Amino acid sequence: MQTTINKKLYNIPDELKDIRLTDFLREYLDLTGVKNGCEMRACGACAILVNNKSMRICHATVKDVENCDVLTIEGMENEDGTLHPLQQAFIDYGAIQCGFCTPGMVLTAHALLLSNNSPTREQIRKALQSNLCRCTGYQQIVDAIEAASVYYK
Ligand code: FES
Ligand code: FES
Repeated sequence: MQTTINKKLYNIPDELKDIRLTDFLREYLDLTGVKNGCEMRACGACAILVNNKSMRICHATVKDVENCDVLTIEGMENEDGTLHPLQQAFIDYGAIQCGFCTPGMVLTAHALLLSNNSPTREQIRKALQSNLCRCTGYQQIVDAIEAASVYYK
């Protein structure tokens, strides 16, 4: 099967189609920004983008993304290796503490901003309602996403 991950086309052998997608991304491709959290589709730590939509993948297998366009946090950075403005905003606004939730948060916010580049704070909170953060209190995360929205216009 084929799929595109972080803008690169992969031919994935059939024997890997049924393994967990998180394991494939982390252990075969070394994309360790993909996190294993609750593994119950409850925390959002495992969220990536599939065809520009945020998807929690802790129950997914590799074949679930056949012929898809997959984006992990590693694929967010600019071609020159600098951080995407949304990633930079998370740093600038203090929206990261332990960082465990951050890849899923950033990618879910990226999906929101791709579909709505002027979200209200309420819409940002609603988009993130399935992404849990134990550290920040969410205020700084909403601030960062609101600030970064200008880069999507
Ligand atoms: S690890 Fe997938 S939602 Fe928590
Ligand atoms: S920064 Fe620690 S869980 Fe969000």
